[in-house]
Amino acid sequence: MVDGKEIPVHQVDSENCKECHKKIYKQWKGSMHAQSTALEDPIHGAFYKQVIGDPAKEDVRTAKGKYPVCLQCHAPSAAKDKKTKLDSLISYQQGVNCVSCHSLKKYNGIDAKNGKMNLGIKAYELSDKLQGPNGMLSEQGKAADALRAKLDDDGDLNPHLGRDNDNKAFMSDEDVKSLDLPMEGNSMLKTSAACLGCHDRRNNSHGVPLCATGDEMVDGKSRETCQSCHMPVSDGIVSHNMGGGHDVTMLKRSIRLDIDAKKSGSDLSVDVTVQNLQPHDVPTGAPFRNAYVKLTALDKDGNIVWQNFKIHPSKEDPKAYFAYALTDDDGKFAPPPKATKQGKNTRLKSYETRVLNYKIASKGVDSIRAEMYYNLLWAGLVKQLKHLDATLKDPKKIAWSEVKIK
Ligand code: HEC
Ligand code: HEC
Ligand code: HEC
Ligand code: HEC
Ligand code: HEC
Repeated sequence: MVDGKEIPVHQVDSENCKECHKKIYKQWKGSMHAQSTALEDPIHGAFYKQVIGDPAKEDVRTAKGKYPVCLQCHAPSAAKDKKTKLDSLISYQQGVNCVSCHSLKKYNGIDAKNGKMNLGIKAYELSDKLQGPNGMLSEQGKAADALRAKLDDDGDLNPHLGRDNDNKAFMSDEDVKSLDLPMEGNSMLKTSAACLGCHDRRNNSHGVPLCATGDEMVDGKSRETCQSCHMPVSDGIVSHNMGGGHDVTMLKRSIRLDIDAKKSGSDLSVDVTVQNLQPHDVPTGAPFRNAYVKLTALDKDGNIVWQNFKIHPSKEDPKAYFAYALTDDDGKFAPPPKATKQGKNTRLKSYETRVLNYKIASKGVDSIRAEMYYNLLWAGLVKQLKHLDATLKDPKKIAWSEVKIK
């Protein structure tokens, strides 16, 4: 109940949470979850418009006449209502909003009985009550009551205990009428199951896996949860920033990069060690995420005397390029919706350490520098999607290292 009106929980606008959960709201608002629809995310938007259609139109269906699966993950509130006009309700436009995650009750997995997949919110049993990781105890109502008395504030401090609750005394009838967001405890939210419906594996219509973060983790037999890295505790709350490929701070934590250079005759033997510290691939997620190592030899004035590639490493130095290729039946490059086969996958596997070896003429070399760059998009896509902002297209430096040659 919001403003005295009965609203189904999945349509509750996250602005309603802002007042009391200020920090979490701000973190969420800055995250890709809050920008996950084709109206807000320019990269997703470009693909959505190409593959599905106009996100501001009702009754959009795929070529096969189906409701667009994308919305099960990118716009859960709209998917629940089978709507496609994403600007018709604020909760649709908010993409993966507070209620999208806080109404997930039980995870049933993505593999449906008939060999098909249940993706996004379809992988879950949903609840009409909010779900909280710790659950609401009556003590929390009393604590809220006491706090309210201390503040001499007649604002409603805790709308989650429900009208039938013994603690209803701490909210005035008016407040209860205006905001009633009952909540129940659900420890599933502390586990990776809270993420996997949308982050496990998604195949295109030809059965080729596009994203497979969850699968990558299972292969690595990690005991870590997604939350342990993506929702750290900071300032006394569980962070909702949930950074990934769009977040350089997060990217900088993903890789350890070291150089070992030894003289052998007139050559230098250089080992560049790249270690993935994650239980999932780096890069992970969307197939077009990629990364590469740029290696340069510098003279004593800092001028480049040698480098491992001039234009792009994919052809000039493939071992330094970490990417997942998609192809057609003839093994030629194909974009995600059209791919019929998995191509070469040189991404760093879960916890993998890879050593790249180079022989470089030592004459005039004073130092060796390695830099790792991350890209949201394949070089080919960067050329196609000209309209995108440079911040989405430019390579980002995520790790570096330098050694002097003795
Ligand atoms: C992508 C999913 C997701 C979204 C979106 C999301 N949450 Fe959460 N939230 C979680 C999970 C998972 C936890 C539990 C984390 C844990 O305990 O490990 C959590 C925890 C919380 C907690 C308890 C925090 C604490 O410090 O104990 C609050 C409060 C909360 N969320 C509020 C919100 C609000 C408000 C929004 C929207 C502004 C929101 N959440 C959006 C998944 C989400
Ligand atoms: C009027 C204030 C208020 C509003 C509005 C509000 N909450 Fe809360 N919420 C609280 C209080 C108080 C608590 C208990 C103390 C805490 O955990 O911060 C709480 C706790 C929570 C928790 C943690 C529960 C747990 O199990 O640990 C979640 C999740 C949550 N709220 C989600 C939401 C969402 C989603 C919305 C918007 C739809 C919302 N809240 C709106 C006051 C509010
Ligand atoms: C209802 C579906 C859904 C759930 C549940 C969900 N996510 Fe997401 N998540 C998405 C979508 C969709 C995107 C992509 C948004 C975009 O880039 O358009 C995303 C993006 C991300 C990103 C990438 C951000 C970036 O910088 O590109 C991270 C990290 C992430 N989610 C972590 C999590 C974690 C951790 C959980 C569980 C606590 C979780 N998500 C739960 C749908 C979901
Ligand atoms: C040990 C810490 C750690 C754990 C555990 C972890 N991640 Fe990550 N994750 C990272 C780091 C660091 C990055 C940034 C590097 C990258 O994008 O590969 C990242 C990136 C991502 C991205 C960004 C992909 C994109 O397209 O931009 C997603 C999505 C993601 N993780 C989801 C998950 C999910 C889901 C889980 C649980 C199944 C999980 N992560 C577990 C550390 C972790
Ligand atoms: C199973 C859930 C799911 C479905 C279904 C889904 N996506 Fe996504 N999508 C994600 C997640 C999660 C991310 C972000 C993390 C990652 O890259 O894995 C993402 C990221 C993307 C990105 C990259 C966005 C960016 O900011 O770089 C594009 C483009 C995209 N999806 C397009 C689509 C299209 C088009 C459809 C429908 C044809 C679709 N997705 C269906 C979960 C899904």
